[in-house]
Amino acid sequence: MSSLEESFAKYDLAFKGKIRNVYNFDSDRLLIVTTDRISAFDFVFNDLIDNKGILLTKMAKFWFTKTKHIIANHIDNTDNQKLPTTFADRCMLVKKTKVLPIEAIVRGHLDGSAWESYNKTKKVNGLEIGGQYQKFDKLESPIFTPSTKAEVGKKDMNISVVEMKNLVGNDLTSKIIDISFSLYKFAYEYAKERGIIIADTKFEFGIDKDDNLVLIDEIFTPDCSRFWLYDKKTQEIKYESFDKQFFRNYLINNNWDNNQINIPDDIKRVLISKYQLAYDLITS
Ligand SMILES: Nc1ncnc2c1ncn2[C@@H]1O[C@H](COP(=O)(O)OP(=O)(O)OP(=O)(O)O)[C@@H](O)[C@H]1O
Ligand SMILES: [Mg+2]
Repeated sequence: MSSLEESFAKYDLAFKGKIRNVYNFDSDRLLIVTTDRISAFDFVFNDLIDNKGILLTKMAKFWFTKTKHIIANHIDNTDNQKLPTTFADRCMLVKKTKVLPIEAIVRGHLDGSAWESYNKTKKVNGLEIGGQYQKFDKLESPIFTPSTKAEVGKKDMNISVVEMKNLVGNDLTSKIIDISFSLYKFAYEYAKERGIIIADTKFEFGIDKDDNLVLIDEIFTPDCSRFWLYDKKTQEIKYESFDKQFFRNYLINNNWDNNQINIPDDIKRVLISKYQLAYDLITS
């Protein structure tokens, strides 16, 4: 057991996500502890990225506070003083919710799997995309491209909005789409003003015990979003990843064979400095 896990041994471990250890705090609340683990292509590495969990926690908390006028989120600070002090900067005390089995992905620019799909078929998640776009281009308006939220060990699958309706119903689907666009547009402008472009991002939602829709998990972090640098003076975007894509690229360029590796120190250093810079710019 790591010293991080030892510190929380008195809590009942509800489940271990790829990145977070989630404990039952009491009947209504979870204690989410964000570790320094890194995952890519749904594979979790044993090697850690020092400080990553702290940065992710700070960034998610920052955005949850900034966006609470748009939607209620899971943060519950009422008993923060009862948390272990040693790892408090990795902790989030949250409302326990029933997690909806979809990931709400919003894209303002075309990159990643959406670009590949558009480039081949002019469609993304079954949605026809008009216009003539190149890779990285800003879309005329953001698009909503949901995926399933797969169980541990399985891959998330892109789905259409119709398939999402079959999973969570019409009402929740339209609410989630509206809220996701509002969150994305708000954060896009906020971050752009400070030198970061949020090219795309992912949200998760849950239903609380009073049946309210609640924004959960993490938001607008470099683990769940694609960040690029933006120079306000020249109005130029540098399409270099300030997020997890940097690590994915390292794996691709080194013909990673789906096994555990020791992540080289310089890769760790560059990765965490990118996460740090994104945090510094956004919260400046
Ligand atoms: N308020 C909440 N109520 C219930 N479950 C939550 C809440 N907030 C987050 N979760 C769940 O806790 C888990 C967090 O763990 P982690 O971020 O490591 O997830 P993961 O889904 O395994 O990995 P990844 O984010 O890389 O897909 C997720 O399954 C998330 O859905
Ligand atoms: Mg997650």
